[in-house]
Amino acid sequence: MPNNGTTSVYRDDSVSIGETPVGKGVFSERSYPANAVIGEITGDVVTNCPSGSRYSFEIDDRTQLEPHAPFRYLNHSCEPNCEFDWFDDDGTNGDVAPMYLIALRDIWSGEELTIDYNWPAISAIPCHCAMESCRGWIVSAEELDSLVRTREDQRSNSR
Ligand SMILES: C[S@@+](CC[C@H](N)C(=O)[O-])C[C@H]1O[C@@H](n2cnc3c(N)ncnc32)[C@H](O)[C@@H]1O
Repeated sequence: MPNNGTTSVYRDDSVSIGETPVGKGVFSERSYPANAVIGEITGDVVTNCPSGSRYSFEIDDRTQLEPHAPFRYLNHSCEPNCEFDWFDDDGTNGDVAPMYLIALRDIWSGEELTIDYNWPAISAIPCHCAMESCRGWIVSAEELDSLVRTREDQRSNSR
């Protein structure tokens, strides 16, 4: 996700952790304009640990980030209001450039902050985001068709 240059330089960490139907989630404690930087994603960089945890996400083939709270608790939505991004001109912290949580649209105080996990089909689980455009699975839009085909094949083979 290269930075497209439109992000406003505006940083705040006014978020809280709360309960949601899918466990903990992250909630906004103030409003944010579209493109605002909500906070930095800090965490531990882990290399050569293929399984990772339910919280970690891939930086590259060998490297994962195990995020710290609060952003470790970001839930998935098929219509997310946030995304991860970084600034091209930021220095690197070790081998990994700092990453930020960015508002994709105006966000109101009290809204849950969500991202699209874009998981590969092999990691997919049923999605409970309840959005109108929910894909039914936490899986990238690109891999949805192949996931649905594989599931249908598995069902007909088990009959
Ligand atoms: C990074 S954690 C998010 C925080 C998590 N809710 C918790 O309490 O630890 C990712 C896990 O949250 C759950 N999750 C997040 N978004 C979800 C969604 N839209 N539908 C179903 N489960 C979700 C899944 O169990 C997933 O493996």
